[in-house]
Amino acid sequence: MAKDIIDETPEIWGKEYSTDSSTVERDYDTFADTGSYDETFDEWGYVGPQTAAAIAGNYVATDSRLLDAACGSGLTGTALKNLGYDNIEGIDISSHLLELAGKTGAYRKVQQVDMQQFPLPFDDGEFDAVNFIGALTYFETNEILRELCRIVRSGGHIVFSQRDDIMRDGNYDRKLDELEADGTWARVFGTEPMPYLPNHPEYGEEIKVQYFVYRVV
Ligand SMILES: C[S@@+](CC[C@H](N)C(=O)[O-])C[C@H]1O[C@@H](n2cnc3c(N)ncnc32)[C@H](O)[C@@H]1O
Repeated sequence: MAKDIIDETPEIWGKEYSTDSSTVERDYDTFADTGSYDETFDEWGYVGPQTAAAIAGNYVATDSRLLDAACGSGLTGTALKNLGYDNIEGIDISSHLLELAGKTGAYRKVQQVDMQQFPLPFDDGEFDAVNFIGALTYFETNEILRELCRIVRSGGHIVFSQRDDIMRDGNYDRKLDELEADGTWARVFGTEPMPYLPNHPEYGEEIKVQYFVYRVV
């Protein structure tokens, strides 16, 4: 199955990945329809959700109101729930993945949102923290990060990951610094590149991931 889904949905797996919302929605719906989305990620060795939840645990109180942005099938919400978080909402563009997320029991609410359409349907400072894991790849600019800062209260946190090849080749650190320079957020934690999908034939050792925590100013 893992091999089939890579061939079937090259625009979400290829090096030339798509940042077009409708393409991403179509391909993640297709992936969800295989019935083995979580198993496939498990096969690829994906531990992003558990890693991100453990990192969040160092900065975010368990009674926080959390948004799991681009929650997919609910892996991150489930990892957070296992650490004691019980006030989590999930949003994603793939309704088929949201159906799976809803079934995990980790979320108070899930809703379909295209995160490329601003403003996101939330008030200023509505959340204590946002987790945004394994999804920044699908966004052309860093404007999504600024928008996530808008919906988190001052002093709250954004926990996210980014592929290390994009950090490097896309000079992404500069984009993160821009938001620090204009007083939007401040970095409180960042990792070196870590394994991302170690058993995925096109990622393997080549594409790694970095995790970050920023405090909203
Ligand atoms: C690799 S999955 C990661 C899912 C989850 N965060 C996790 O770590 O298991 C990437 C997710 O980003 C979502 N996504 C991509 N572009 C999006 C957009 N414009 N709006 C909302 N969700 C989007 C996809 O539908 C998919 O669920």
